[in-house]
Amino acid sequence: MPVLRSIRERFGAERPLDGVRVGACLHVTAETANLVLALRAGGARVDLCAANPYVTQEDVAEALGEGVHLGDYRAGLEAVAAAEPDIVLDDGAELVMLVHERLRGATEETRSGLVHLRATELGCPVLAVNEAAAERALNDRFGTGQSALDGILRATRLLLAGQTVVVLGYGWTGRGVALRARGAGASVIVCEVDALRALEARMEGFEVMPALDAAERGDVFVTVTGSRDVLRREHFLRMRDGAVLANAGHFDVEIALADLRDLAGDRVVQALPLVEQYEVEPGRRLNLLARGQVINLAAAQGHPAAVMDVSFAVQALAAVHLVQHELPPGVHQVPAQIDEEVARLKLASLGVAIDVETPEQQDYRGRWAPPA
Ligand code: ADE
Repeated sequence: MPVLRSIRERFGAERPLDGVRVGACLHVTAETANLVLALRAGGARVDLCAANPYVTQEDVAEALGEGVHLGDYRAGLEAVAAAEPDIVLDDGAELVMLVHERLRGATEETRSGLVHLRATELGCPVLAVNEAAAERALNDRFGTGQSALDGILRATRLLLAGQTVVVLGYGWTGRGVALRARGAGASVIVCEVDALRALEARMEGFEVMPALDAAERGDVFVTVTGSRDVLRREHFLRMRDGAVLANAGHFDVEIALADLRDLAGDRVVQALPLVEQYEVEPGRRLNLLARGQVINLAAAQGHPAAVMDVSFAVQALAAVHLVQHELPPGVHQVPAQIDEEVARLKLASLGVAIDVETPEQQDYRGRWAPPA
């Protein structure tokens, strides 16, 4: 993670987080460990709990040692809250929800989390890392797009070519999943509730239709909406025998598990380690992956380090921004100069150089007015 490494080196020299208590609720992975090390190098004391205990990499937690609160999910959140953080870095917004009245500021990594935060009267500023341009460029589309399919393939060993993949939700993650599934030879159907996104999906060459119609056509269903009960009883009862159900959204509420359980009763078998087969009607067996948990982390190893390098560089710089500026309560965009800095560091790490505007070009852009 060369971007984070260079930030860590700078933090070590400048100590911008000296004495700051950072509470973090993130997936406990090797990538997160690098973020924690950068924050510690900047002088912060970091308390970390798991955004999802199912995806915790135990060896990483052990290596980080002090300040890591594992075990029960709620207990972890409460332990971090009890450490009285000044700044919170969140992935799902649940830690922020507990302590926002007492914080200097927070950051949020996921779109699902931002949906909750925007519906809350916040007591502190929150920087929407999920919406930062640098994050946008890589995280959801390429990171989740690739790793969600990686999780589905690891869990099932399916051949995607020739399958019909139904992607529910055409935000950035949905786009990533749809594009990569198409690249692997699948026919892709997109389901949306947003007219503009649906239109974009159609213009990008995907079939678009309501989920009830897609239910009859799909071999593999991937939910990526940030909403709940996107696939439910009425869809399950139309799906083909052998259909595969995976969730790539942050919370495990996108596939209505209660409906699956209710329909199948005791006709549930563990077909493979990460595949539960629910017989929802005689002869109609649906394969639920990773209990409906976020598939790229539950069945694969999350975003590749090359992606988290950018996301966590934004998180680290956003934490410093919150310490150095007084912002009013509410959700704010990450400042453009952070995006710019991270993008430059990432390009440098890839060995990519870019052009610089000439003074004349700068002048032209500054003074440009539409032709009379
Ligand atoms: N979220 C998605 N992928 C991740 C990873 N590898 N580490 C931490 N959080 C993540």
